[in-house]
Amino acid sequence: MKVTPWEVSGTIDYNKLIKEFGVSKLDDSLLERIGKRAKEKGLPLHHLLRRKIFFAHRDMKFILDEYDKGDHFFLYTGRAPSGHTHMGHLVPWLLTKYLQDIFDVELWFQFPDEEKFLFKENLTLEDTEKYTRENMLDIIALGFDPKKTHFIVDTLHAGLMYKEAIKVAKKITFSTAKAAFGFNSDQNIGAIFYTAMQAVPSFLPSILKKRKIPCLIPHAIDQDPHFRVSRDVIPKLGHYKPASIQCRFLPDLSSRGGKMSTSVAEHATIYTTDSPQEVKKKINKYAFSGGKDSLEEHRKHGGNPDIDISYQWLTFFEEDDKKLEKIYHDYKSGKLTSGELKAILIEKLNIFLKDHQKKREQAKKLIDKFIFKTH
Ligand code: TRP
Repeated sequence: MKVTPWEVSGTIDYNKLIKEFGVSKLDDSLLERIGKRAKEKGLPLHHLLRRKIFFAHRDMKFILDEYDKGDHFFLYTGRAPSGHTHMGHLVPWLLTKYLQDIFDVELWFQFPDEEKFLFKENLTLEDTEKYTRENMLDIIALGFDPKKTHFIVDTLHAGLMYKEAIKVAKKITFSTAKAAFGFNSDQNIGAIFYTAMQAVPSFLPSILKKRKIPCLIPHAIDQDPHFRVSRDVIPKLGHYKPASIQCRFLPDLSSRGGKMSTSVAEHATIYTTDSPQEVKKKINKYAFSGGKDSLEEHRKHGGNPDIDISYQWLTFFEEDDKKLEKIYHDYKSGKLTSGELKAILIEKLNIFLKDHQKKREQAKKLIDKFIFKTH
């Protein structure tokens, strides 16, 4: 198993990650407290929380305690533009949107457009510029509140960010970066510096408003090394340690584990811009099945939902617990075939994507509203 912000491979053991990264399990008492706030807004506890797809955190108790005292946090998350948005990218953003709704707080969304330029051989700055815009449409389409959501683009907001990034960078040694990210001496120096830029939005609102504001970062667990490093530094600059809440990876269609990654298997990835036919074709062709080889055997022995990718995907995207449970049992008993299970997922995704693509079109007019204005 390998989990760094730039490479995820192997079969992911999440309990082992909790220990190795030093994050805490998201326990029921914290979920209950979030659920209580959700209830005030007439919402259930989000299925990504109920199902422990968000499974770990740092300092979530601090965030909730402060909130109870009236000291509201802001949310921070991000996306390094390097390609089109796929379903896996949406997972942390879906929870972020929910958290914005139930806590009624600001979101600062970073587009580190230099990150993948520095880490990928063949990505130009022109490419990242195009993808920044493309990715923004997906984020806006999820329904974030334009009055409470600020997009920051590293190269565009460099004047604001660089001044803060150097304060962070000054307190991180090369040996710390090597230990946290596995860099060796061949690494370009831009890549080594990058983590300082990713630290900045976790305290930038505190700088702008000239008071300490708690920060909560929803993200996939692979990003934790950045925040593990910056949490040591940021208090030395006079700010709160950023808190975080971490999710598992949406598995690749063709794999039994690991993170869905465009660089690994382009064809086995569902993009938010895919047509209904493409979704159908990809799932039918690539989604790893937990079913038996013949229909006869499947009816007799049933399938294995725990390794079946279509079922796993439904745990991320089917909100209804009862529906999901029925699918689980019907598949396990052999009543539901692999083809039928795939059809359920195809329909679910296509309904979601139809709406998403419509909102994505409408978002084109809204980009400017979301980009943070320095004056
Ligand atoms: N490094 C992230 C990526 O590869 C982008 C990012 C920037 C981010 N800031 C973040 C992700 C904060 C989560 C939280 O996409």
